[in-house]
Amino acid sequence: MPAVSESPQLVVVANRLPVRRTPDDDGNLRWTTSPGGLVSALTPALAESGRGCWVGWDGSTDDDEPVDDSPGLPAEVDGIKLVDIPISADELDDHYDGMSNGTLWPLYHDKIGSVEFHRHWYDGYRRINRRFAEATAEAADDGAIVWIHDYQLQLVPGMLREIRPDLTIGFFLHIPFPPRELFQQLPWRKGLSSGILGSDLIGFQTPQAIANFHGVVNHLGLTTSVDDNVLKFQGRMIRTNAYPIGIDVDRYQDAALSHPIMEASRDLRARLGNPQTVLLGVDRLDYTKGIDVRLRAFRELLADGELHPSQVTMVQVAQPSRDKVDAYVDVRNRVERLVSEINGDYGRVGFPVVHYIHQSQSFTELMALYGTADVMLVTPFADGMNLVAKEYVASRHDESGVLVLSEFAGAAHQLSDAIMVNPYDVDGLKSAIAEAVKMPAEEQRRRLKSLREVVASTDVNQWLANFRRDILQIHRAKDGG
Ligand code: F6P
Repeated sequence: MPAVSESPQLVVVANRLPVRRTPDDDGNLRWTTSPGGLVSALTPALAESGRGCWVGWDGSTDDDEPVDDSPGLPAEVDGIKLVDIPISADELDDHYDGMSNGTLWPLYHDKIGSVEFHRHWYDGYRRINRRFAEATAEAADDGAIVWIHDYQLQLVPGMLREIRPDLTIGFFLHIPFPPRELFQQLPWRKGLSSGILGSDLIGFQTPQAIANFHGVVNHLGLTTSVDDNVLKFQGRMIRTNAYPIGIDVDRYQDAALSHPIMEASRDLRARLGNPQTVLLGVDRLDYTKGIDVRLRAFRELLADGELHPSQVTMVQVAQPSRDKVDAYVDVRNRVERLVSEINGDYGRVGFPVVHYIHQSQSFTELMALYGTADVMLVTPFADGMNLVAKEYVASRHDESGVLVLSEFAGAAHQLSDAIMVNPYDVDGLKSAIAEAVKMPAEEQRRRLKSLREVVASTDVNQWLANFRRDILQIHRAKDGG
């Protein structure tokens, strides 16, 4: 049995590596660390663990056009070893576009999109999960802690345990876990849930997801719940817990207070024609996000005369995503049609009422948008957490602004001082937007103050610290420490 070190090696396993190829100032491609709170929170933890390692896919396939002088993937970034999992274009069709985003994503998000079940998708999913498990087994030191992320890799915990029973295995699901009535439609329900049960610790975003998972695995006869947070599986105890993910609050707060961002926000508002009210939506272009329903509500408010186009402007950022999947092509068509209809009916030359951006935004552009937005619309039909809601709150240092938030976002469990909406209820959404636009400054301040406290006290570092505390405890108990 390996000696228990003070700080065991930490291996993170996620579908994507924490790096991406971007052009520098001279247009030369280079690998840089991916933006985002998850990567920046995990980087020091991995570096600290010594021999920290990240297993993932670099985003390329054998179908990509070769780029002259493109640098190869570095062996490590910021002291973290990178283990690349190659995925071919055909494999990507089955594992990523197929099983992950054509089956699991819509099923786990309440079947908002149509769910397809294909045996060859599941075969491809299994093959890629096996590849991740084998590479992880090879990369992990004796007695290491392995932390596997998300729905693309649910078979990895079980496969890894078979090869390396000495490892302590944690799994975190970033998206919702569905109720039993939906999950049991999966032809591979036993295989998938047994895969997750290969873990020692399973983290979810919300208590609801834990309850759903217990309901599923107990009903399948795989486990018995010892209590609300412990499952017994094949004689082993597995802990389940809620770890609501947060953002890097300091980064957003500091940027929002910086002179260049404040100036960029003022500039942006002027470019929008200095309207009385700016409404903002920032989403990946995904049918779960409720972009179309908020556009419909906005259109009806303009039609009713409740809002006036000379006073209100909406900005909708829709970051391109998963564009080979039919349902994503459909939602793009729906959204773009609505935007064009609204602008056709209510815009004037030089003054569209909806500014629609189908591009990723830089951090600076995003901060300028948050600084300009009087009302932030976050209206998903289902969402694991929704970090945009938290980013907006953290960016509003002067405590002005209103968050309109779907009750079906994981964030709604924490951000109770937002104006809550049911995105299926267009009339309710209209009333919420109208209320937000008219909300007195004092009421805005009261709500934002409390929201900012919640977001600050549950940031990404807290999320990481809580998961690490629990997995380390299990690791020590396992090794008799
Ligand atoms: O929310 C789930 C998630 O997989 C995130 O982890 C990720 O950042 C996002 O969706 C985008 O995913 P993709 O890898 O499909 O671009």
